[in-house]
Amino acid sequence: GLLQSVAREITTTHVRLVDVDAKQAPGALAEGVLAEMFAEGGPVVVGYREGVRVTPRLRESPLVDAAMTPLGLGPSSVVLLTGGARGITARVAVALARRTGCAIELIGRTALPVGPEDPATAAAADPGALRQALIGSGLTRPAQIEAAAARLLAEREITDTLAALGGQAASVRYHAVDVRDAAAVAAVVADVHARHGRLDGVIHGAGVLEDRLLRDKSPESFARVYTTKVDGARALMAALRPETGFVVLFGSVAGVFGNRGQADYAAANDALDRLAHSWGERVDGRVVSVDWGPWGSEATGRGEATGRGMVTPALEREYARRGIGLIDPDEGVAALLRELGAGPAGPAQVVYMCGTPEAFGG
Ligand SMILES: NC(=O)c1ccc[n+]([C@@H]2O[C@H](COP(=O)([O-])OP(=O)(O)OC[C@H]3O[C@@H](n4cnc5c(N)ncnc54)[C@H](OP(=O)(O)O)[C@@H]3O)[C@@H](O)[C@H]2O)c1
Repeated sequence: GLLQSVAREITTTHVRLVDVDAKQAPGALAEGVLAEMFAEGGPVVVGYREGVRVTPRLRESPLVDAAMTPLGLGPSSVVLLTGGARGITARVAVALARRTGCAIELIGRTALPVGPEDPATAAAADPGALRQALIGSGLTRPAQIEAAAARLLAEREITDTLAALGGQAASVRYHAVDVRDAAAVAAVVADVHARHGRLDGVIHGAGVLEDRLLRDKSPESFARVYTTKVDGARALMAALRPETGFVVLFGSVAGVFGNRGQADYAAANDALDRLAHSWGERVDGRVVSVDWGPWGSEATGRGEATGRGMVTPALEREYARRGIGLIDPDEGVAALLRELGAGPAGPAQVVYMCGTPEAFGG
């Protein structure tokens, strides 16, 4: 993910990741590396296995009918979703509750609002109107206005998600916790076991974007994007009991193909894919990374003001230009339920996208 993004950003430099077989004779290994150094074009990632050159490739597979797949979850089951109060993970949480009636536990950094929203801002439905209302209420510094608007939009989204879950889930609890804090994540998992006596499955959807070309990116920014996904996944896995029925890590096509301006995000998502492949034995159920292409902007069904997920209108236009379609939110949710229904035998990594690998630069 990292090097594929680097290759897209620094097009004047030949970039190649050569995965070598340490058991190979040094002479043959050196020959392979030399050949890759001077090869024209070709894939960024290659490997040598028993002297044979291999390259990763996607394999298309047919979809099965999501409605037909039993999930093995019911009203006594419990599912924990990081990032599940907002964006596309919230959409999955609501669908899981609707379909199975299970208990839902959510993790996110935003604190729950303590009371109803101030009437001075409550009527401002979209971000523009909200900024105006905040200026009207006395805020003057742009950074202050942006931060206040982002917080209010996040709070509204969480409130909407909790309301949508209320009538469907056996119970709902929101934990204001940063997934990078391993002790806090362990405490949430312990609390779930203490209250429910079980935890059937986990979906790790927490993620942040700070897109910028690698040359303009600070180590701190890279770390925030990378650790939210990777340290968060590690914290969860360390806390889970072996009897966990499934662990789903939300990855991205950026991790599969790399992406300009997303070296950090691509590295993180690729790392999640590797972790899913290596964690299969850690729990009884399936561990799978689900690498999403971009979802449609109505990802949570709440329109422009909140809950559009990570895909901004500008990104949408860029995808359209490259011939990349957006995942219909209902189909995205159905795809995930289908994966959960596949049971422990399913693959450790799947990619869902509306476009050919070539459209993503693969
Ligand atoms: N939307 C897409 O088209 C798309 C495509 C490919 C992959 N994905 C993946 O799907 C997941 C959700 O994406 P989205 O579009 O729904 O994004 P989103 O709307 O920005 O939601 C991200 C969620 O993660 C939470 N979060 C961020 N940092 C956290 C932290 N340190 N600790 C706990 N929670 C944290 C956020 O809540 P707080 O801000 O309250 O913490 C929010 O609930 C991400 O992993 C993303 O990489 C999405």
